[in-house]
Amino acid sequence: MIKDPVLEIKGLNVDYGLGDHAVHAVRDVNLTLHRGEVLGLAGESGSGKSTLAYGLTRLLPPPGVISGGQVIYHQADGPPVDVLSLSHKELRKFRWAETSIVFQGAMNSLNPVHKISTQLIDVIKAHEPTSTPASRLARAREMLSLVGISADRLESYPHQLSGGMRQRVMIAMALALEPRVVIMDEPTTALDVVMQRQILGQLIELRERLGFSVLFITHDLSLLVEFSDRIAIMYGGRIVEEAPAADLYRDSLHPYSDGLLHSFPALRGPRRELTGIPGSPPDQRSMPTGCSFHPRCPKAFEPCADKIPVLGEPNLLGDQARSVACWLHPARETVA
Ligand SMILES: Nc1ncnc2c1ncn2[C@@H]1O[C@H](COP(=O)(O)OP(=O)(O)OP(=O)(O)O)[C@@H](O)[C@H]1O
Ligand SMILES: [Mg+2]
Repeated sequence: MIKDPVLEIKGLNVDYGLGDHAVHAVRDVNLTLHRGEVLGLAGESGSGKSTLAYGLTRLLPPPGVISGGQVIYHQADGPPVDVLSLSHKELRKFRWAETSIVFQGAMNSLNPVHKISTQLIDVIKAHEPTSTPASRLARAREMLSLVGISADRLESYPHQLSGGMRQRVMIAMALALEPRVVIMDEPTTALDVVMQRQILGQLIELRERLGFSVLFITHDLSLLVEFSDRIAIMYGGRIVEEAPAADLYRDSLHPYSDGLLHSFPALRGPRRELTGIPGSPPDQRSMPTGCSFHPRCPKAFEPCADKIPVLGEPNLLGDQARSVACWLHPARETVA
């Protein structure tokens, strides 16, 4: 597969608040989403996953501010765009037609007083104003059946659908405009495990047919191991490891990734001992010095409390597209 970047996040910093009291929720994040891939982003609660998603789409609620970095979007035709410098008008078009977002708890964002058909058709109409009513209805039916819901459900109100169906309606809306990038922030956490897997399975199938890229955010690493191409692990606002899903599962390099992997039962392959991670996530207002994971890390040694490890390709494996920020695996460029 040719690595064709669609979205490049470069040195992104996001704070809540200003000055001394600012919470640095996202710190120097570099992440690239390639065409047609599913990139999973995992990390404990509070690690900054949603803040990253809000920041890169410029949907940050106050007091959130982007304090540095770039988000480069590679258009299908046209020059690359720095999303962070778009005007509000440009942003609106970009946000919906090029990038779709399904946020945490999205199933509750359907309007309870309108039928599903009205809501789906409104989205299509807003972005294809020249389409005819008949073509919009046909498209709404098609989108619903794409996510496995029978078209006669168009006439239902949200409360007449199950949680899983409402969530799938939100996914249908997100896909209705054939975006090139779909960002999903814990779109399935409110659903049971069977439903989560079913929805993700459908999404992957659609991705193959429609060719979009997905940034999938969850704290459930087992889902990502199964469904994503690559996985990035976030801790204390930083990406601490990034690797192809299979490599991360087989041989994670960062002790935090290791801890996450041993926090859930494996769906396939040999059984693993479940150990969890001792301690709790750091307080963003008073981060530990050095590597922010060091107070919880079973393998911490001398440099960990002093210096922040940089995310980079580890020196030891002269291969693979994987990177880690850990003093056990110094990055090539930081080795003297
Ligand atoms: N509006 C806000 N004001 C101040 N701090 C905030 C705000 N929203 C989030 N934060 C802080 O930013 C950090 C990252 O939060 P974020 O919601 O991005 O985490 P997350 O990884 O998405 O967690 P979860 O898995 O619970 O959704 C947390 O420490 C949180 O307390
Ligand atoms: Mg979140």
